[in-house]
Amino acid sequence: MNNFDFHNPTKILFGKGRIEHLNDHIPVDAKVLIIYGGGSAERTGVLEQVRTALSGRTLVEFGGIEPNPRYATTLNAVKVIVDNNITFLLAVGGGSVIDATKFIAMASLYVGDPWEILTAGTAKVTAAMPFGTVLTLPATGSEMNNGGVITNPEKIAKLPFRSPHCYPIFSVLDPELTYTLPARQIANGAADAFVHIIEQYLTYPSGAHVQDGFAESLLRTIIELGPKALETPEDYDIRASLMWTATLALNGLIGTGVPQDWASHMIGHEITALNDTDHARTLAVVLPSLLNDQRGHKHEKLLQYASNVWGITEGTDAVRIDAAIDATRAFFEQLGIKTRLSDYGIAAAEIELIVSALQEHGMTALGEHKDITPTDVRRILEASL
Ligand code: NZQ
Ligand code: ZN
Repeated sequence: MNNFDFHNPTKILFGKGRIEHLNDHIPVDAKVLIIYGGGSAERTGVLEQVRTALSGRTLVEFGGIEPNPRYATTLNAVKVIVDNNITFLLAVGGGSVIDATKFIAMASLYVGDPWEILTAGTAKVTAAMPFGTVLTLPATGSEMNNGGVITNPEKIAKLPFRSPHCYPIFSVLDPELTYTLPARQIANGAADAFVHIIEQYLTYPSGAHVQDGFAESLLRTIIELGPKALETPEDYDIRASLMWTATLALNGLIGTGVPQDWASHMIGHEITALNDTDHARTLAVVLPSLLNDQRGHKHEKLLQYASNVWGITEGTDAVRIDAAIDATRAFFEQLGIKTRLSDYGIAAAEIELIVSALQEHGMTALGEHKDITPTDVRRILEASL
């Protein structure tokens, strides 16, 4: 196991009705900006619950954060913060709203052009406005981590950031808030969390027994409960377990002291930048082909994955690895997620656009060994058509 630091300061308020406790976790003298998305928070009533919980305070609201949140929209929110002397942000929504809020929190205190935060790294970020979240879509883990992704269509770019200043102060996780999710977003959430675990687990053995055990348990939970959540959307215990799984998948815990991959994510981000395909769906396209392509490097972990996650123990190494990759693809399809580029209108000619975008963004040495080159990505994408 590699050396590591682990510090996660986000307080989790989990369970039914926890929005009622919001007021206790925001400084009394704070001037709060509530940030939300395209309207689901208003429609489902969660925004009203938040307003009620914070009644008596002066609240300002900023709606309209898009899925795959747009850079220009975040700058509009910064203007509202300045104009209203805001001192605390409250994100109400899924990963997109939370990621946007993190970026807004940094940009509102940043000296210089905020675009630098995405292009030159977060080294110059010395502070961010404090913020909390009310999560409505379990998927990204953004509610308990310090990263995010911002899209700028003008530059055809979807760029990740990470900063120690971007942990939420608290996150409210009420599984009942997820009952209103359409099937597409339930499936997306399950697939995204699944791939987050894979990116931190399916590399090469590093003697990290605890992290492997956690990861395998989380993967089995998603395999069992993802399809059940689609069948019985208002089963509280299923929703609660999926919600907590998605948070644990990317709050740093299973990633401590282990090699990490993230190539599927970096390739997937460029697919979204190209045609706005849902984040999780890009992963379901890339991951099966990437696992097959990298089966040499990932040989031992693929066998462990086959056995401990899928119960595949019969046959030669090659047969078991094939079966595990097939099971992975079949699981995404079972969730209703297509796993081919052509399913999303992407043809062979567009592969070159994805490869050159990766090059432009410096993503030329991907994977746990930093040896997945643009040539390898091209081959992986051709196998994903
Ligand atoms: O915009 P509104 O109207 O709110 O509707 C949203 C949106 O259309 C809707 N929704 C959310 N909660 C709902 C609901 N509809 C009904 N009932 C509810 N309770 O769902 C749609 C998708 O929302 P979005 O926030 O975009 O989805 P998700 O949580 O999957 O977030 C995706 C974004 O997170 C980034 C992705 O790249 C993408 O931009 N990621 C962030 C990560 C992180 N911060 O660590 C890691 C991930 O790998 C990922 O890259
Ligand atoms: Zn993801």
